[in-house]
Amino acid sequence: MNHPAAVYPIDPDFAAKARVTREDYERQYAESVDDPAAFWGKVAQRLDWFTAPTRIKDVSYDLEDFRIRWYEDGELNASVNCLDRHLDKRGDKTALIFEHDDPAQPAERITYRELHARVCKLANALRSLGVRKGDRVTIYLPMIPEAVVAMLACARVGAIHSVVFGGFAPQSIADRVADCQSRLIITADEGLRGGKKVPLKANVDAALKLGGTNTVETVLVVRHTGSAVDMQMPRDRWYDAVVDAQPTECAPERMNAEDPLFILYTSGSTGKPKGVLHTTGGYLVYASFTHEVVFDLREDDVYWCTADVGWVTGHSYIVYGPLANGATALVFEGVPNYPTVSRFWEVIDKHQVTLFYTAPTAIRALMRDGDEPVRKTSRASLRLLGTVGEPINPEAWRWYYEVVGESRSPIVDTWWQTETGGILITPLAGAIDLKPGSATKPFFGVQPALVDANGTRLEGEAEGNLVLLDSWPGQMRTVYGDHGRFIDTYFRTYPGTYFTGDGCRRDADGYYWITGRVDDVINVSGHRIGTAEVESALVSHPKVAEAAVVGFPHDIKGQGIYAYVTLIAGEAPTDELHKELVAHVRKEIGPIATPDHLQWAPGLPKTRSGKIMRRILRKIAENAPDQLGDTSTLADPGVVESLVRERRVP
Ligand code: WT7
Repeated sequence: MNHPAAVYPIDPDFAAKARVTREDYERQYAESVDDPAAFWGKVAQRLDWFTAPTRIKDVSYDLEDFRIRWYEDGELNASVNCLDRHLDKRGDKTALIFEHDDPAQPAERITYRELHARVCKLANALRSLGVRKGDRVTIYLPMIPEAVVAMLACARVGAIHSVVFGGFAPQSIADRVADCQSRLIITADEGLRGGKKVPLKANVDAALKLGGTNTVETVLVVRHTGSAVDMQMPRDRWYDAVVDAQPTECAPERMNAEDPLFILYTSGSTGKPKGVLHTTGGYLVYASFTHEVVFDLREDDVYWCTADVGWVTGHSYIVYGPLANGATALVFEGVPNYPTVSRFWEVIDKHQVTLFYTAPTAIRALMRDGDEPVRKTSRASLRLLGTVGEPINPEAWRWYYEVVGESRSPIVDTWWQTETGGILITPLAGAIDLKPGSATKPFFGVQPALVDANGTRLEGEAEGNLVLLDSWPGQMRTVYGDHGRFIDTYFRTYPGTYFTGDGCRRDADGYYWITGRVDDVINVSGHRIGTAEVESALVSHPKVAEAAVVGFPHDIKGQGIYAYVTLIAGEAPTDELHKELVAHVRKEIGPIATPDHLQWAPGLPKTRSGKIMRRILRKIAENAPDQLGDTSTLADPGVVESLVRERRVP
């Protein structure tokens, strides 16, 4: 860790044509932090406003006088910025390329004009179903064009969308619908991933039988696989039946910059997922600006981000950023290893992708299959690669750079969060030398700092907790329905700053190296899972008395889920019960929360006041029983010895 990291200097050919050079970066960064209002006021001109903002920034992280407002007197509509304003110059340009799960199905190319018409039709349909500005709409769709259409149609009528990832189970859908009181759900008969069907409509049906969901009046169902599904009239309506006859023009709602655009639920260290709320003006300015600058976007680029719209990466860097920029974005329904592990690279060749953005977990998984599945494709169209979601280990970075990119394309390792709306720490390929494994330097306007556990600022080369000293336009504004939780989670720990929940090291060159979460959140394949959520799913099983969940290092996923389970008196651990509990978590939360390892724990290590000592459980899960540290506060040291003895070797 302490040896000097390899440096990949800026490629001079790339820099010669880049949007931002080293000098530009230094000058603009200085401007952005010296006078944020001037800087972000200028950047906001990239959007079309009904009323241009004059009050650019009004932010205070002071808990007595807390506020985050950007462009507060501006008015705009996000869908107009993603569609209408391109029609003159880019009406016939491809907005979306849709690549099916099955490569034998013809790809679909949707122009800006067509996308505009499809969004307007759905927006009209939503209005006809009574959806009004400020109403919440849940979107539970596969990665198909309708997912993009649905988000933009909500934006057009001022409805707040809440996209729920298609891998979530009925209980998770129900929790999210209940939290934001959705009136309407847009789903599909089924999804398709790697040839396997996902019963989306059936999951919605099951969710709507659960408590708290009776605000839902209508379920719009996209016919996707064509399989028969149960339709409950009058609640359920076929999408095409409601949408097809609608007019292709729809007057957009005038939205204030600070009106909500969407809610996206994400796991925290305690309790139920939080509804991260983003507003319209600042979010769109930030998503579009970062997309253009970080990916060095040009008019003829074909841009592909492999994320799902169920995550923030899909929101900012498949939908809002690229479309606000008039880019051509690829929407991929499938998975990296279907029908073969060459799929990503074949899709790149097929559509001549120039900018490619994916996750370290996918890179590590594909790296396992060797170079041949990559080498047999061309990939000559590529000019820039990106990663997001978790730290990328230098081996995977080098493989991505050398094998996938043939040492021709720089890699942008982009650090950000659902809460940040857009990328905050990242290389700009024409401006910043790369170091494998480092997200490098802050984006314009972003002021990272490191603090120790007491909140003392650490200068120079240091490792600590990552905080941000000032706001940026894409920052979340609140936790939906729980502003107190917003303040408590992000602003109370280190007063006067936004606390990211991440640990981070800064090297002698001022480069930032994210070391991972410092809270009880596990990053599984770039997705956040709260240990508390998995624990409460386990404890909801009648035979479980207590559960404790921690992360452990996993070769492909980055982190895996390790669960310790104590059964109620009289229940004996069996292989069947083991399987049943794993299946129970999948059923309660969804496959992404599947425990990788489940260890029976006759007891859990606790302090004398009854607090579970997770630090010790983490060390046992990591198979580092010699690093348990101070165990003198344990109520019963025998518990730890037996857990170490009984550890299931991953
Ligand atoms: C957490 C946020 C932002 C979109 C995807 C995840 C981790 C994200 C990186 C990176 C190291 C990263 C952090 C962060 N993370 N990108 N490039 N290097 N860590 O969004 O689900 O909100 O998770 O992902 O731990 O806090 P998210």
